[in-house]
Amino acid sequence: MDKVTTLAHPNIALVKYWGKRDEQLNLPAVGSISVTLDELQTRTTIEKLIGKCQDEIIFNDVIADEKEAEKIRKYIDLFREKSNEKIYLKVATSNNFPTSAGLASSASGFAALAKGLSEIFELKLNAQELSRIARLGSGSAARSIFGGYVQLHKGILPSGEDCFAEQILTADDFPLKTIIAITDKTPKKVSSRKGMKESQQTSPYYNSWVESSDNDLLVMKKAIIEKDFFTIAEISIQSCLKMHSVMMTTQPPLIYWNSKTFAIIEQVLKMYNEKFPVFFTIDAGPQVKIFTFEGEEKKIIENLKNLNLIDEHFVIGIGKGIETIED
Ligand code: DP6
Repeated sequence: MDKVTTLAHPNIALVKYWGKRDEQLNLPAVGSISVTLDELQTRTTIEKLIGKCQDEIIFNDVIADEKEAEKIRKYIDLFREKSNEKIYLKVATSNNFPTSAGLASSASGFAALAKGLSEIFELKLNAQELSRIARLGSGSAARSIFGGYVQLHKGILPSGEDCFAEQILTADDFPLKTIIAITDKTPKKVSSRKGMKESQQTSPYYNSWVESSDNDLLVMKKAIIEKDFFTIAEISIQSCLKMHSVMMTTQPPLIYWNSKTFAIIEQVLKMYNEKFPVFFTIDAGPQVKIFTFEGEEKKIIENLKNLNLIDEHFVIGIGKGIETIED
């Protein structure tokens, strides 16, 4: 195969990943559970280059800067080593979602790349192997290999063999909706990778965060299988606030929220406490991701708009895993 195009979607974690047990192999210190999003996608086309001795990397139709390109070339090296084939490639990637959405484009980016490279180098990797190799690019990418509700196992082996993701339920099994409330469009100041390293080194709460995550994973997995919305909500809110407590107690403090983020949390909690089916989660940025049942999203958006808390938002369903498409 000389050319391939793949699609992957970003995901949002309900039980969060923050911290690593091995930096070199990018092994997480905690397992995580996420939902893969529909509509938003990364599209990656990979072509073999004839007579060239360097990969060409293009992001959203523009040649990638050297730092980004080097990261991708190193990642492609893994596949060159695995296949023993010294071919160079043109990799063109584009996202149909703005970076302001605060969605880890590295998750869909490395998932699409892992699938495409596996096809180009004819490695015939199954989904579990793809998830493992996507993880080497970015931890959250291991989850975007699958659609629906997905668990990434942290594993215990030093090799990382047992660190891969698996699907818990498909999107159709339990079709929730996500509202992504944009509160600030400026790029985040500290990346997840750098931030989690600092937390691990300095937050006094880091160890209890790691210890408490096993129980969150058990309860969340059961709640997803049972489609128990309010338990999913409770654990998701807890996991998010615990992760942000670790972030905030990092030295120097990692405060990703702004006043609107906080005001939205208050409103969502108010509705949740009145037994409205809604909950929130927040990643390493100020945007709030709000989950609810299909058909209930209007009430939440109206409420937040009336209080001037959102300027822009996206409503997104739950999506599928990676796919290869005909160009
Ligand atoms: C806050 O997967 O971006 O979004 O493995 O270093 O690439 P690396 O980190 P990344 O971290 C995601 C952190 C998070 C929580 C989550 O998605 O679980």
